[in-house]
Amino acid sequence: MCGIIGIVGGEPVSDRLVDGLKRMEYRGYDSAGICTLHDGRLVRRRAKGKLSNLVDALRDNDAPGSVGIAHTRWATHGAPTAENAHPHATGEVAIVHNGIIENYKELRAELRDDGHSFESETDSEVIAHLISRRIENGEKPAEAVQNVLPRLRGAFALAVAFRDHPDMLIGARLGSPLVIGYGSEGEDPEMYLGSDALALAPLTQRISYLEEGDWAVITRDSAQIFDLDGNEVTREIRTSGASAAATEKGNYRHFMQKEIFEQPTVVAQTLGSYLRRDDYSVALPQFDFDISSVRRLTIVACGTSYYAGLVAKYWFEQFARLPVDIDVASEFRYREPVLEDGGLALFISQSGETADTLAALRHCKEEGQTIGVVVNVPTSTMAREADLLLPTHAGPEIGVASTKAFTCQLAVLAALAAHMAVKRGLMSRAKETEVVQHLLEAPACLNAALDHDDDIASMAHLIAPARDVLYLGRGQDYPLALEGALKLKEISYIHAEGYASGEMKHGPIALIDEDVPVVVIAPSGPLFEKTVSNMEEVRARGGKVVLISDAQGIKDAGEGCMATIEMPKVHPLIAPLVYAIPVQLLAYHVAVVKGTDVDQPRNLAKSVTVE
Ligand code: AGP
Repeated sequence: MCGIIGIVGGEPVSDRLVDGLKRMEYRGYDSAGICTLHDGRLVRRRAKGKLSNLVDALRDNDAPGSVGIAHTRWATHGAPTAENAHPHATGEVAIVHNGIIENYKELRAELRDDGHSFESETDSEVIAHLISRRIENGEKPAEAVQNVLPRLRGAFALAVAFRDHPDMLIGARLGSPLVIGYGSEGEDPEMYLGSDALALAPLTQRISYLEEGDWAVITRDSAQIFDLDGNEVTREIRTSGASAAATEKGNYRHFMQKEIFEQPTVVAQTLGSYLRRDDYSVALPQFDFDISSVRRLTIVACGTSYYAGLVAKYWFEQFARLPVDIDVASEFRYREPVLEDGGLALFISQSGETADTLAALRHCKEEGQTIGVVVNVPTSTMAREADLLLPTHAGPEIGVASTKAFTCQLAVLAALAAHMAVKRGLMSRAKETEVVQHLLEAPACLNAALDHDDDIASMAHLIAPARDVLYLGRGQDYPLALEGALKLKEISYIHAEGYASGEMKHGPIALIDEDVPVVVIAPSGPLFEKTVSNMEEVRARGGKVVLISDAQGIKDAGEGCMATIEMPKVHPLIAPLVYAIPVQLLAYHVAVVKGTDVDQPRNLAKSVTVE
């Protein structure tokens, strides 16, 4: 996901623009650039790769000026090169863009026919030329931008700078988020544009979120916001609460490590906002939708959030006897799903901006579904389009690999499943009390699981050399196998696959030999024996097994395993939360052994805001 920041101020801006880009590194990027306005010129510096390369370029050739824009690019169209890095510019206009312009080819052709030539392979560059062409025809900046926006098909968050108007910037959003930051109002007023509140955190806590189709003209001391039709509108100025500290690692080596260890605290915070300790009941936010009327639940998400939904499917079906249709967002709407009239569609997302999930949400809204959203960013687009908002309280998740958001999602989903069971008259008060008590045990169990960090670190070298790794799990631990495989893939670049352990004998077992470690997630419980027999089938063929279980499970089945990871004895209900810890830590320590970029793995973005 690209990052945007802009400043209209009275002091030099290049350092603060670069600092803003640093706070957005977690979004994932592969090049960066800055453009300031100085002495009637657009001063542009761009660099491929890490921000340090841009800093070096600026040290050699600075970018003076008190107004500017900057960008971190996650490549969609065109390789991650300096030429394709933003800002893109013509003589008069510079722009930075987050999103995809789907009709860029026809726009490029039109502009070429009009004598324009392009320096990049990107879709974004057409925006600079379209605006520039209008400026050259005598239109003012606001008029030019307002006339260009309707021509863009796709998604965009934009910041635009104008050579001949060094006292302003224009921002616009459709499909990708953009905020306005209100700076000091005294002697030296300043105003800002940013992709999110974190980017602006050290500059201001006062922000407004542009709505879909909004565009805004900002000067040092003013912001004029217009809707798609050009009507001036006002957007609430909120206190963001995003702290610069949230983007610090503290004593941890990586954000991912910090966020793994934050889980007991943030899961407790999340549970605390959905469960009542005084009478051990579930207390969901009030909303005007009769949840007991739901006859079928649709769940849609991507990646790790999808795996949280897969776990929750077991809970909704076991507790609430509610049939669940779950799918990855990128497939969901293209299969023309059959939706129950007036049904509930539940979307799970850490960022609340994932384009695939957002598109599925809007499809369901058009189909008359009530929209539930489990999301970690309460000001995100999905949060603002939800009928039923169920926030996780994980705090900003900076590491690209999702960890604490996943366990917080599970906490919310377990509470929702219990709530629906109660509302459908299928869960007694006694059962509800028992479920809530087990959920409230989760933070302490997460802490106990984290105590095995050193054990897991000491065995990472057994996995690091592997080219292929398999993860096995049964029942509600099967999605954990998928999640563990994803974590290993995305940060250590080792190919890994998660399977339902009973599925091994239907083909995947052909992969087994002494070079393919098999991680088996098997807490003691009703499915333990069956999982162990699948594990024995693997070992009988020379497979090297890493068994993750509790003391009893390791006593019963750990002999002969390549390694074992002991977990605390936990109730089956919270096993998916607790067993997330070892699969997260295993992936983390293997990646550290391999020396990969744990927090910003290659090719990945924290939130994928393109379909
Ligand atoms: C998980 O570690 C990955 N970063 C990725 O699969 C992520 O879960 C997915 O892109 C969905 O993101 P979201 O939760 O912000 O919608």
